[in-house]
Amino acid sequence: MKSRAAVLFGAGQKLEIREVDVQDPGVGEVRIQMAAGGVCHSDLHVMKGDLKAPLPAILGHEGAGIVADVGAGVTDVKSGDHVIPLWRLSCGECEYCSAGRAALCAAGTEIRWSGRLLDGTTRFKLDGQEIKHFAGVSSFSNYTVVPEKAVLKIPDDIPLERAALLGCAVITGVGAVINAAEVRPGRTVAVFGTGGVGVNVVQGAALAGAEKIIAVDLMESRLEQAKSFGATHAVNASDGDPVEQIRDITGGRGVDYSFEVVGLPLTMRQAYDCLAKRGVAMLVGITPTTAEVSIPSLSLVYEERVLTGSLYGSTAPKIEIPRLIDLYRAGNLKLDELLTRTYPIEEINQAYSDLESGATLRSVVTF
Ligand code: CU
Repeated sequence: MKSRAAVLFGAGQKLEIREVDVQDPGVGEVRIQMAAGGVCHSDLHVMKGDLKAPLPAILGHEGAGIVADVGAGVTDVKSGDHVIPLWRLSCGECEYCSAGRAALCAAGTEIRWSGRLLDGTTRFKLDGQEIKHFAGVSSFSNYTVVPEKAVLKIPDDIPLERAALLGCAVITGVGAVINAAEVRPGRTVAVFGTGGVGVNVVQGAALAGAEKIIAVDLMESRLEQAKSFGATHAVNASDGDPVEQIRDITGGRGVDYSFEVVGLPLTMRQAYDCLAKRGVAMLVGITPTTAEVSIPSLSLVYEERVLTGSLYGSTAPKIEIPRLIDLYRAGNLKLDELLTRTYPIEEINQAYSDLESGATLRSVVTF
């Protein structure tokens, strides 16, 4: 079938809206009619060439839609089901999947770097040429084909534009706090970068009962937003060294946990420098492929500090996302406030420049 899609032909280019051919779902695959695709920073990294991906590809790794049809052998979902595609495919059987760390499954790595589905082919074509999948999702297409194991059925009554955000921004941010850092009540937290994922780190820290939640950003509007998601303090890094500002707020001690949601070596170093003894710096932001970070190694020993990272909420999304939906229903998870704008797919490049300028917090494109 034909589908309108946003295709990236090469790094450094804009997305182009094209009518692509979407083939039937193969064995164990699901064809989804996307209702909304999330405008996330990771796709922007690919567009700029900071993050490698096989091209040309249909980007988008966050979204929600309705199952159009399914291939042979599919039992988890049927046509008409509301679903979220997951950008880390997990086999369900390996060492990491068995330990509840589905994001670390090798199957997800394979599909991410090959740009193809599990049988080594793609379901997209343009003028007879193969178009790659992105992270096995390609949510910037009205129709996409995804492996059954990367599809999560959700309740019909959650608006799809909001549900879309659960598939990346919310689970990545909240999961980094709850599953990776395991923030405990009464502790202090600093969050570097309070965009779409960062505010979810903030609300995760609030859910975990952190006492001080210090939002760090360069944009005043972002800091204001962070407060509405539960930040108790705001540090504008353009007012001076954020590490010193954080030490001032914590009486010189530093924070128990810091989260870096920017993806820059500078802010990663700051996230490490603002820690208290035994503090944990959790890297969540995606850096360019070649980036490195250096830290004073002695503090790892003398202060027992920890520097680590979290991928996709460090969890099994099929277990965690339904819990997040329950939290949303109970009024404890802010999802409506997260979605600040909706664009038609034709305006996707505008959506990305608005993301970059900070005009939007999280937006989706619709079809
Ligand atoms: Cu994302």
